[in-house]
Amino acid sequence: MLGVDKEVRVSKIKEGTVIDHINAGYALDVVKILGITGHERQVMTIAINVPSKRIHIKDLVKIEGRVLNKQDVNRIALVAPRATINIIKDYKVVEKLEVKLPSTIEEIVKCINPTCISNAGEPINSKFYVENEEPLMLKCHYCGYILEKPDVLRQFLT
Ligand code: CTP
Ligand code: ZN
Repeated sequence: MLGVDKEVRVSKIKEGTVIDHINAGYALDVVKILGITGHERQVMTIAINVPSKRIHIKDLVKIEGRVLNKQDVNRIALVAPRATINIIKDYKVVEKLEVKLPSTIEEIVKCINPTCISNAGEPINSKFYVENEEPLMLKCHYCGYILEKPDVLRQFLT
């Protein structure tokens, strides 16, 4: 088998976004939270359990022809708080963002407690405290209800 390249490589992309350093096992959560159904027209690559220098093994998502906005980045922080977002233009990394989960989350997630004041039709923005990053636990500022990752992901399924 001499001369056989045993390394698996995912090809470079021309334009789009590479979400790198996703904790192993979380790539599918990342695509879910971005609202990706699999029926889009873009070319996407999802790599799971890839060997990495920086972390032992990682997941990776490449989305061609889509540049993530601030809201997408905030959503990714909920499921992959150590990911790196690389914006690619003409094969080059033109922007690199380190994702970070803030200690409070406002607006992007809704409380699932039906009796919560934030669900009573009042003009109140939702607000959560990040009690734990992994596994994700968000505590509602208004009612104290604890949301876990499946409760959050469910809100982004289309
Ligand atoms: N990448 C890509 N297509 C390109 C350029 C980069 O798919 N045209 C991918 C690389 O494969 C890598 C990520 O984007 O997964 C970041 O690229 P780069 O900054 O060149 O890699 P590193 O220096 O290893 O990044 P870091 O320091 O963030 O680990
Ligand atoms: Zn609540």
